[in-house]
Amino acid sequence: MKFFVDTADIEEIRDLAATGLVDGVTTNPSLVAKSGRDFFEVLKDICAAVPGPVSAEVTATDEGGMIREGEKLARIAKNIAIKVPLTWDGLKACKYFTNHKTMVNVTLCFSAAQAILAAKAGATFVSPFVGRLDDVGQDGMQLIAEICTIYRQYNYFHTEVLVASVRNPMHVVYAAKMGAHVATVPPAVLKQLVQHPLTDKGLATFLADWQKTGQKI
Ligand code: E4P
Repeated sequence: MKFFVDTADIEEIRDLAATGLVDGVTTNPSLVAKSGRDFFEVLKDICAAVPGPVSAEVTATDEGGMIREGEKLARIAKNIAIKVPLTWDGLKACKYFTNHKTMVNVTLCFSAAQAILAAKAGATFVSPFVGRLDDVGQDGMQLIAEICTIYRQYNYFHTEVLVASVRNPMHVVYAAKMGAHVATVPPAVLKQLVQHPLTDKGLATFLADWQKTGQKI
């Protein structure tokens, strides 16, 4: 399973990339606004910090506008993945970029039907938003299970399931059990993945016992 970091905060990205466990980054207009930085500048920094795909979202809503914006974004670096919304225009723009060998992340996916269309359009990634479904009383992980099952039926679907809107470690664990290809994880949740109180307790005991031996390694 690949881990992408879901942030536009370059310091957090560099910090987490240093673990060697980060395979890519996803951004969206809200995360860029939160960073307070120029969109193109921040993307350039992120693309230099991680070798894997970096999602950059268009803001136009018509096919032509998405293509124009996407082409500008794609020129930033080779590892840019153009992020388009799951609309008819977004799907047409997806097809265009796929035909031009540019990676595409089709975002704002909330149904299995939409995910089928993203695969048909040749998306590199489809991003179902699990947390936002949970927020409205639907089961986000159930959608991941459905999409993974559907994609497995067709060996000519090459779209990777990128689990987005991740809110807690269990979203990541369930996604991995279902065989989702990627989880994009906020830095705080990524850091939570390593935590277990028995690890801390066990380490404290080992260190205390080791001190008693008076030895050094
Ligand atoms: C990533 O591509 C999405 O934009 C992001 O995961 C959305 O997360 P949120 O629902 O927490 O805003």
